[in-house]
Amino acid sequence: MPIFSSKKQSPEPDEQPKQPQRKAKDSSQPKSTQKNILQPETAIDEEGKQEDSIRPQKFADYIGQKDLKDVLDIAIKAAKSRGEVIDHLLLYGPPGLGKTTMAMILASEMGVNYKITSAPALERPRDIVGLLINLKPGDVLFIDEIHRLSRMTEEILYPAMEDYRLDITVGKGASAKTRSIPLSKFTLVGATTRVGALTSPLRDRFGLIQKLRFYEVDELSQIVMRTAELLQTPVNSEGATEIAKRSRGTPRIANRLLKRVRDYAEVKSFTEIDKLIAAEALHLFQVDPCGLDWTDRKMLSVIIENFNGGPVGLETLAAATGEDTQTIEEVYEPYLMQIAYLSRTPRGRVATKAAYQHMGFKPPNEQLSLL
Ligand SMILES: Nc1ncnc2c1ncn2[C@@H]1O[C@H](COP(=O)(O)OP(=O)(O)OP(=O)(O)O)[C@@H](O)[C@H]1O
Ligand SMILES: [Mg+2]
Repeated sequence: MPIFSSKKQSPEPDEQPKQPQRKAKDSSQPKSTQKNILQPETAIDEEGKQEDSIRPQKFADYIGQKDLKDVLDIAIKAAKSRGEVIDHLLLYGPPGLGKTTMAMILASEMGVNYKITSAPALERPRDIVGLLINLKPGDVLFIDEIHRLSRMTEEILYPAMEDYRLDITVGKGASAKTRSIPLSKFTLVGATTRVGALTSPLRDRFGLIQKLRFYEVDELSQIVMRTAELLQTPVNSEGATEIAKRSRGTPRIANRLLKRVRDYAEVKSFTEIDKLIAAEALHLFQVDPCGLDWTDRKMLSVIIENFNGGPVGLETLAAATGEDTQTIEEVYEPYLMQIAYLSRTPRGRVATKAAYQHMGFKPPNEQLSLL
C-alpha cells in the first residue's frame, strides 16, 4: 500500500480527499488491473459524480444488508427517542458494498449533517482538530479507510470519541500545558476494508461494529432495476439478473456493468435490456458469467494446473498474478470464497470442485475415478 504524504495535498479537511488518493493507489497497480470494470473500487474519471446521483438517499432505498439495517434502525429510533446521538459506528467489508452510502443515510435519517473525509487526509493533527471543532451537535463525521490513521490523529480521537473532548498541548518542554476543549456530541462513522488492521484502543471505542456482506443475486438485480429506472434505461428482470450474476456481489460493480450494457443497447438500437443483450454486451467486455476477471481466473488456474488444486501459499499466488498479497486478500479472495471457489486452509489456498468445473477442468476425484 503506498504511503501518501500530505505535503503537496493541502488537505483541507472539509474537502473530500478520497479521489486523488484513489488515483495514487490505482497507478501503483499492475497494468492488467487498471480500468478493469470488475474492480470494486471507484474509477475516478468514469464515475465520480454519477455515483452520487444513483446513491440511495433513504433507508427504504438501501437494498439488502438486512442485519445492518435492523441494527441501525433500532439505534436510530433509540437515539431519537432519548434525544441523544448515535453511538460511534464502525463499518467494515470489501469495497463498493455501501459503507459510505450507509453513513450518509444515517445522517439524513437522524436529520443531521455529515462530513466525509479519509484517514490519509488527516495526517497532521490540525486536520482532525479543525474537523472536530467545527462539528455541530449530532453531526456525523465519516472517516474512510480508518485503519490508516496516523498515531497522533488516533490519539486525538480517543478523548473526542469517549468524552467529546479535545486535549491539546500548548507550548513545549517544561512549560507545556494541556488544554481541554469541549466538543459537540457527534457520531463517528469509520469505514474500513481491513478491520484487523485497526488498533484495539480505536476499535474498542466504537459502540457498534458492523460487517457488510456481499449481496445476493436477487438483491443485486433489485439494485440494477433501481439504477436503470434512475438512468431511464428500460431493463427487464431477466436482463437485470444477468447483470447481477456477474457483479461479484457488489452494488458498485452492478451499476457499472449496467452502464456498459446500456451503452451497448443504445448503440445497437435495442429498446429494452433483456437477458440476451446483457449477456452479449458483457461477453464483449470480457466479463465472465460469474464475474471473474483475469486475476481470479489466473489464481484458480495456477492452483489447479500448477499445484494440483492446492494448497498454495498467498505469496505464490501474488507472484503468479502480479498483484500484491494485500489486494489478493482483500479484493479477490473474499469473493472467490463467497462463491465457494476457493477455500483458505492453514497450509494455503485450495481450489474447490466448483472452481474446477467453472474453469473447465475435471475435479480431482473424478479424474481418479477415470484411472
Ligand atoms: N444497499 C444498496 N442499495 C443500492 N445501491 C447501493 C447499495 N449499496 C451501495 N450501493 C451503490 O453502490 C455504490 C457504491 O457504494 P459506496 O460508495 O457506499 O461503497 P463503499 O462501501 O463506501 O465503497 P469503498 O470501500 O470503495 O469506499 C453507490 O454509489 C451506490 O449507488
Ligand atoms: Mg466509501
